[in-house]
Amino acid sequence: MSELVICFNNKDPYPWKKALQEALPESTIHIWEKGQHYGQASMALCWLPNENILSTMPNLRLLQSVGAGVDFLFKLDLGAHPPHIARVVDTSLSQDMFEFLLGLLLSDMKRLGYYQIQQGKQQWSPQSYSRIGQTKVTIIGLGQIGSFIATKLHDLGFQVSGYAQNKKDIEGIHCFDATDGFEASVHQADYVVNVLPLTDATQGYYNKERLAAIKPGSTFINIGRGGHVIDEDLIEALDDGKLSQAYLDVFHQEPLDPRHPFWTNPKVHITPHIAGVTSTEATVKQIVANFLAIQGGKTLMNEVSVKKGY
Ligand code: GLV
Repeated sequence: MSELVICFNNKDPYPWKKALQEALPESTIHIWEKGQHYGQASMALCWLPNENILSTMPNLRLLQSVGAGVDFLFKLDLGAHPPHIARVVDTSLSQDMFEFLLGLLLSDMKRLGYYQIQQGKQQWSPQSYSRIGQTKVTIIGLGQIGSFIATKLHDLGFQVSGYAQNKKDIEGIHCFDATDGFEASVHQADYVVNVLPLTDATQGYYNKERLAAIKPGSTFINIGRGGHVIDEDLIEALDDGKLSQAYLDVFHQEPLDPRHPFWTNPKVHITPHIAGVTSTEATVKQIVANFLAIQGGKTLMNEVSVKKGY
């Protein structure tokens, strides 16, 4: 009987083991341990797995991400005959990311963080605020999550545009693509929100040049991946006053190193990769379906292209 191995870092594997074991009572579900060998494993369920998992699973046929992103799976040495790779698609994750972003936008527009600091100093200091109808948001990356978020913000009355490499057509959203250039999407926005997939092509995407194209005084929000940003270039853009602030939920290394300069930069607001977290309830069904599909040679759900990386 084929086996499934849970390979997690920075995430509790036990709720997943429990949910999967209930759904697959006949199967063996392991939690990956260093030094163990899993010869019967056909599928690995992964979140930031250790580099050498593939060498411990010689008969692996499917690397299944437990998240919407698969970037960390492409960091593994996939060899000449890579296993299939799949992600999960979870509408509650898109909704969670939208809610997180909305909370952040409104808090920033109404200066709530500022008043929190003023309260500590017993300062009564009213500030101007902006309204939804006046606020321009651009979403960089119009895949499943990006287009969901863009539409939701538009429905609330924000002025929303977006950028994707290939042409997109989303009602109410001004969609820019590679022919218009990234600059066209960011040069007027008050908030630039990153939700790109992380691939070889988007690694280090927010470099000096692209950050300089953003409207001066805008706020940068990263709920995609830390690898999209060249940290030094972002810090420089903030320190030079080109960008007013950055809200960062994702980082090159997570947890973020306590010595990283982001922690102490007053223009950087840090959250611990919490914008959207896949829930067991919402995704166990598709993970189980893929476990059964890979054994029966059937079509996988949400398979990603090994060639494209997303
Ligand atoms: C979250 O970051 C995910 O990839 O699901």
